Amino acid sequence: MLNEQDPLVQLKLDLLRRALPARDAVVFGDIYGVDGGYTAKCVELGCERALLLDTHETAAWQRLRLERPELDFYKGDFADASFMASVRETFEVGVAYDVLLHQAPLLHTLHLMLEKVRERFLVVQPMLEEQAVPNSVVYLPGNTDGTLHPYPELPDVYRVLDVREVNQSHWIWGMTQSFLRSALAGEGFEIVHEVACEELPPNDSWSWRGYLAERRPDERGHWSDHAKTMDLRAAEA
Ligand SMILES: C[S@@+](CC[C@H](N)C(=O)[O-])C[C@H]1O[C@@H](n2cnc3c(N)ncnc32)[C@H](O)[C@@H]1O
Repeated sequence: MLNEQDPLVQLKLDLLRRALPARDAVVFGDIYGVDGGYTAKCVELGCERALLLDTHETAAWQRLRLERPELDFYKGDFADASFMASVRETFEVGVAYDVLLHQAPLLHTLHLMLEKVRERFLVVQPMLEEQAVPNSVVYLPGNTDGTLHPYPELPDVYRVLDVREVNQSHWIWGMTQSFLRSALAGEGFEIVHEVACEELPPNDSWSWRGYLAERRPDERGHWSDHAKTMDLRAAEA
């Protein structure tokens, strides 16, 4: 459940209130440490339906679902295209709180997530400070720059730089804000509001940030749609 005294939880809830009310919402990853708390908030804030996608579940979440028929749950990996094909609907709002850093196939997963979001998308997560090259995204497992570790005093809890721990239980990416902005734009979303949390990870190369992005009508040459991208043979002719 949510500890509403925690400044980070407050930031996540403030952003949720900014995006809601909405008819429906999909929440990507909301079990670990919170038992579906943000999904339940979506219903409290007016959603007729809120769907949680997560690979895990807890008894507390199951009890919540029994109490609130507006809550729904599909157990599976939202980085898996086959699983996501079984989600045959879209949602006005999508919520991605502390999940993007954990997705090994990052751009692909972001695309699978945003295909399900009609209008507004929320992201909250620790962001890496801007690097010398804009749009940097740093692969953390196996990284030899120990100064990147966001919690250097807790190396056993956060095995961030362990080259063998490339899975959703660990941090995989250090994303800069410029990278996130560009990656979202590539999916047709524009960041329209951003916030920072005063609660910082111990390493000041990182900061907790939140973003509200909105879908923009556009015509993109997206990698998922090869019919719309340039035919290289035609370009050579
Ligand atoms: C760090 S917790 C964040 C929980 C909550 N959203 C919050 O902000 O406190 C990440 C959650 O996302 C789930 N998760 C991460 N990647 C996932 C994926 N690819 N498919 C399904 N669930 C995933 C984990 O099981 C976990 O419950």
